[in-house]
Amino acid sequence: MGHTVPTEAAVRRPLQRQQAWLADYRFGLRLSERGKVSSLGDGIVWVEGLPSARLDELIAFADGNEAMVIQLSADRLGAILLKDTQSLKAGMDAYLSGRGLGIGVGEDLLGRVIDPLGYPLDGLAPPRTDNWHPLDIGSPPIVERDFVEHPLYTGIKIIDTMIPIGRGQRQLIIGDHGTGKSALALDTVINQRGNDVRCVYVLIGQKRSSVVQTMETLRQSGALAHTTLVVAEATATAGIKYLAPFAGCAVAEEWMRAGHDTLVVYDDLSTHARAYRELSLLLRRPPGREAYPGDIFYLHARLLERSTRLAAKQGGGSMTALPIVETEQGEIAAYIPTNLISITDGQIYLDAQLFARGNLPAIDITRSVSRIGGKAQDEAIKREAGRTKLDFLQFLELEVFTRFGAKLDASMDQRIRRGQLLREVLKQDRLDPQSIASQMAWLVAYNNGLLDGLEGETLTHALAKLRASAETVELDLDASQDRWRDVVRAWLEGKGHEQAA
Ligand SMILES: Nc1ncnc2c1ncn2[C@@H]1O[C@H](COP(=O)(O)OP(=O)(O)OP(=O)(O)O)[C@@H](O)[C@H]1O
Ligand SMILES: [Mg+2]
Repeated sequence: MGHTVPTEAAVRRPLQRQQAWLADYRFGLRLSERGKVSSLGDGIVWVEGLPSARLDELIAFADGNEAMVIQLSADRLGAILLKDTQSLKAGMDAYLSGRGLGIGVGEDLLGRVIDPLGYPLDGLAPPRTDNWHPLDIGSPPIVERDFVEHPLYTGIKIIDTMIPIGRGQRQLIIGDHGTGKSALALDTVINQRGNDVRCVYVLIGQKRSSVVQTMETLRQSGALAHTTLVVAEATATAGIKYLAPFAGCAVAEEWMRAGHDTLVVYDDLSTHARAYRELSLLLRRPPGREAYPGDIFYLHARLLERSTRLAAKQGGGSMTALPIVETEQGEIAAYIPTNLISITDGQIYLDAQLFARGNLPAIDITRSVSRIGGKAQDEAIKREAGRTKLDFLQFLELEVFTRFGAKLDASMDQRIRRGQLLREVLKQDRLDPQSIASQMAWLVAYNNGLLDGLEGETLTHALAKLRASAETVELDLDASQDRWRDVVRAWLEGKGHEQAA
């Protein structure tokens, strides 16, 4: 190949260009790209002329409004408007901000009600924030995580004993409309009163009256002080509803990173999925199964993967997640429920028929599971509850046969009666979480047959007596089985536990 010698002109050209640039240079703010709003509506704004925009980047408009990019195509981008606004018009200038969306976080958020952007909804001054946390951020890598090994008590008898939850676990609450899903999550939040777990309750797309009710329930139970409510009301745009769980997660994540144990409730992800579907259809993405966009699984997985327990080196904090999903006619094989079942570490299934029969909380134990909580359960509780659960499951199977009028022998009859007793014992009003000591007391009493033959008033009375004693008298959970049995017997007989010795 011949060697070409550059002409003098070619050498000089860049030099000239540089000189010209220098001569023209003026100090001042330089914005590299200026876009224009091409159209807007339904909380979505389309912008042309910002080719270097990134996904999730904030775009600033000439009127001071902002929007978050969620769709990039060759000639334009789609963004979620962060505020309902009249001032933004087609043709207005748009600029890249270089920032992603985040939320102000800090101690001051405890006891507050905010929207997904961090603005107060409780009529008080804006919360003071110590830090800024991105809404969408990668989940902690494996090396930063640790096993789930400490229990998170819900105060609900059937859960703490038979479907235990650990700190850092993701446990789905699933059931039809009006089966007590929110009540269960609220009770769990209330039960964290007086211990070190900070809670975030995310309400997505609920009526204002429900929001106020949730807030009042928390306040009256003395649980608002350790809780932050993140609310995207029913009237909020689909974009704001879409952001809500990520905002709640960010608040909890900041505390987890600071070494706290946290609990976050997403009430509920069915509404969240619908908001995302609405956004996706507005953005003209191709719909998939049940018209949901194909990446809905990724969206929920990304959210729930951020819940974990951190290793000691990372501060040892944790984020337990209780996502809620609504089913229709008990159909757990629908798209969103199956996705969530496969992302979480177990589910608590609420059954409409149990609810109708007054078996509250309406938890169907045969369809509920906690895949990792057992490792976090207290040894003593685990020892007692293992037997109880087995008894209960056998009873439920047996009960089906009795419906056909099958003749039962004496031992089966006995089992049925014990099962029916257990079903009564497990009934629990809402807003009435029970301490772990009182759970131990009823378990021991039931397993040792001390409650046999009781029903109605007498059973309620016996359980109340056990509970009152367990909550006033200190007895180590790890005391021997014999000791527990003797003490519980003494309690039932109305004696103090010194007499049991
Ligand atoms: N353990 C319980 N004891 C008595 N009542 C209960 C219990 N749990 C729930 N309820 C009542 O059942 C009703 C429905 O409960 P809740 O609103 O929690 O259900 P949900 O599944 O969250 O409903 P939605 O689908 O509307 O969100 C409420 O009136 C609540 O007070
Ligand atoms: Mg609800």
